[in-house]
Parts: sequence; structure tokens; C-alpha cells
Amino acid sequence: MKPLLLHLVLATFVFFSSIRDGCAGITSSFVRSDWPSVDIPLNHEAFAVPKGYNAPQQVHITQGDYDGKAVIISWVTPEEPGSNHVQFGTSENKFKATAEGTVSNYTFYKYKSGYIHHCLVEGLEYNTKYYYRIGSGESSREFWFETPPKVGPDAPYKFGIIGDLGQTFNSLSTLEHYIESGAQAVLFVGDLSYADRYEYTDVGLRWDTWGRFVEKSTAYQPWMWSAGNHEIEYMPYMGEVVPFKSYLQRYSTPYLASKSSSPLWYAFRRASAHIIVLSSYSPFVKYTPQWQWLREELKNVDREKTPWLIVLMHVPLYNSNDAHYMEGESMRVVFESWFIEYKVDMIFAGHVHAYERSYRFSNVDYNITSGNRYPVADKSAPVYITVGDGGNQEGLASRFMDPQPEYSAFREASYGHSTLEIKNRTHAIYHWNRNDDGKKVPTDSFVLYNQYWGNNRRRRKLKHFLLTVIDEVVSI
Ligand SMILES: [Fe+2]
Repeated sequence: MKPLLLHLVLATFVFFSSIRDGCAGITSSFVRSDWPSVDIPLNHEAFAVPKGYNAPQQVHITQGDYDGKAVIISWVTPEEPGSNHVQFGTSENKFKATAEGTVSNYTFYKYKSGYIHHCLVEGLEYNTKYYYRIGSGESSREFWFETPPKVGPDAPYKFGIIGDLGQTFNSLSTLEHYIESGAQAVLFVGDLSYADRYEYTDVGLRWDTWGRFVEKSTAYQPWMWSAGNHEIEYMPYMGEVVPFKSYLQRYSTPYLASKSSSPLWYAFRRASAHIIVLSSYSPFVKYTPQWQWLREELKNVDREKTPWLIVLMHVPLYNSNDAHYMEGESMRVVFESWFIEYKVDMIFAGHVHAYERSYRFSNVDYNITSGNRYPVADKSAPVYITVGDGGNQEGLASRFMDPQPEYSAFREASYGHSTLEIKNRTHAIYHWNRNDDGKKVPTDSFVLYNQYWGNNRRRRKLKHFLLTVIDEVVSI
């Protein structure tokens, strides 16, 4: 029995060391039989317009406050403003309450948008299913959503993470696999529609198709948005020079609830997670509004209430793909030391059209005078995950740097999405799911120990275990 026990101890040690401290990373040899990276044709059923005159379309919801007791419900009416009300309640077909929203439209070159509605529905109960109705008469439409559990350290929750989605058949595959995953809300890491790949009036049209494309998920659960480069839409040759114009008109964020001065960066709490959303394409160096806001928001994080601290951004800070190599370096230099200091659990990004996961590494000692310049294993560092593989028309980023850097644990150029299933204050289960030509295949997965609660407890347990083993060995 005793040699067996020693083997078990050694194997356990090697396994945990490999997860925690880094070892040779894996570059997956999986080669995907690529569907063409072209957008779905406009007349495809994925973009079907709902029946009825002026029927609400492109319905999407997002969290509307700091703690999850409100949602912002958004939709577009194509012909005229129509009703600006949301009727809602906890029983199907019984809508006891009404909220009133705002309506606006915009032009982009010669495209004139439909009437875009945003309605804050607040004062909701936790852990409750709500039904809601928008539109009027025979054209009205009904949907539902579920509020999260009350913010607390052991509130379980399952997030999905999707990035760089676009509107191709690969995008459709990702969306359908995500819906099967059973996750309860999406953390979206930027680059939504890729409408900016079009010109003139087609830009607006492709925002509309994307809104209808994702509605089968976005109408029923909150998608929390962050902006990518494809949202900037700086197109001076068309006379369009206001950054993020279409995105900000169409997609709301609860930025005021976290005292942010811009919808492009904000924070919220959901179940046991505190989520911080950053903007890679807004100023972030010292003293800028985003820098000052983040410095204050990090002080608001209470790991006793929300043990899980997650940061979203579009451009990854660690990336060993040829595509977009080093683009996140300037933000890494500014913010990485804070992410270490506050023991961020995970940082999700998109932008690179491939999947990559890091070990816990940091490069905060970087100093051009001392010569220190290599990332080193760091237990206080977050796990960095790039999941910009939603499936847009630009295709996959298949050229990784060789050799694989030490910080890189797993990388693969395939389409897919991730899920993070928080179990309690100490443990969460993470999966990356490759689409794999129609079948959902969990490809990269691990158990995540919380940086605030999990580590200490695990260290205590490990210490106890090792003392027991030493006793056993001594008594041989
Ligand atoms: Fe991007």
C-alpha cells in the first residue's frame, strides 16, 4: 500500500505543479476542415424578420444595474417608433407591471436606422423568471429571462464567453453550441457584427442582420458587451468619423451604476462574480478617465461577497499568435501590476481568431534598466484566455509563434466558445468548446481555484496531506 501511496503523492504533485506553475504548453495539432468564412446570405432564415407590421426585432437584454436586480431590454421597430413600453411579470401572459423606455434612431452614410428602444426594467427579485412583452397589437412579441441569485460568495452561476462572433455559418455553429451549453449569461469580448467589413448602406444593414441573428439567445439572457476594433467604424471616406456610433446606439451597458463616465468601460456584480469590462480602444494611460475609474473600481471589489474577479477586454495582454502580436502590450504595462495586486482570477479577451490559455504568469518586473524582461510564473497572476474564435468572416488565425512561450498553456486555431461554471467561493469549472464541424467537443478544461479563497484553503489541505505522508514514510 505504501509505495502505491507514494506514487499517488508524486503524481498529484506533478499534476498540480503543471497546472499552477507552468510546464511545456500544448499547441493542438487539430486541423479544422474549414467552412468558408463568408457571411450568411441576407435572405437566410437566420436573419428572418418577425411577422407583423412594425414588429419588434433585434431584441436583446443586458444587466441594468450593479447587482443584477435590473435589466435593460432593447429592440428595434423598423417602420415607426411604436410603443415604447415593456410589460412584464412573473406569470406567462400576465404582465402586471410596465416600464417605459427611450427611443432614438441614427444615420450612417445614407442608411437610416430603425427606431431603437432601450428600456430599464428595475426592482426585480433575484432568482426569478420574468416574462415580458414588447410591441403592440398583433405585432407584439413575448420573451422571458431569469434574474441571477443574490450577490453572495457561494452563489453558483454559469457564464458563457464569446468573442469576435460575426455572422457566418461558423458564427451560427458557435451560437447554437453556446445555447446548448446551458450557460446563463454571456460575457462578450468584443467585435460583434463585423458590419464594418461592408461599405455605405450595407454597414447598417449588417448591424440589423446581426441583431436578428443573435436574438434567439440575446432576448432570453443578458449579454454583457465590450467593444472591439470592429465597433469603431471610423470611415471618413463615407463621412462617418464618430467612433463607436452604431455600437453605442444599439447596445447598452449599465455603466452609470459603476460610476463610469463611458458606456465603453464599466463593472457589475452577478451572483459570486465581480466583472470589470475595459475598453482597449479608449485612452487608458495614467490619469485618463478609464485609468482613474479602474483604480477606484478595484477598491470596490469585496472578495468576501464576490470571490470571483474577472476582467474583460478585447485585445489580449498575452498572445503568442502571429495575429495581433504585441497589440495588448501597452495596456499590459499600465494595468498588469493592478491585476496581480488585486489577484484577478481570469482575464478574457478576443481579437485573435484562435484560442489560447496561459498559465499564471506575470511580467511586472519588466524594467529596461535592470534588463529583466521575461514573464515568470506568478501565483498571484490571472489566467489569461483568448477566445476570439467566434467565427467571423476574417477566418482563423492559424500561425502561432514557435517555440510556444513558457506562459502559454494551450492554444489551437479553431472556432468555439468558453464556459465558466462557478460552483462556490473556491471552485469553478472552465471549458473551451471547439465547434468541431457540428459537434460540441469540450477541448480544453480545468478546475479553477479561486485566487482569494481557493488558494489558501488548498494550501492548508496540501500541507495537512504532506504532513500525513511524511508521518507514513517515517513510520516505514
Ligand atoms: Fe478585433
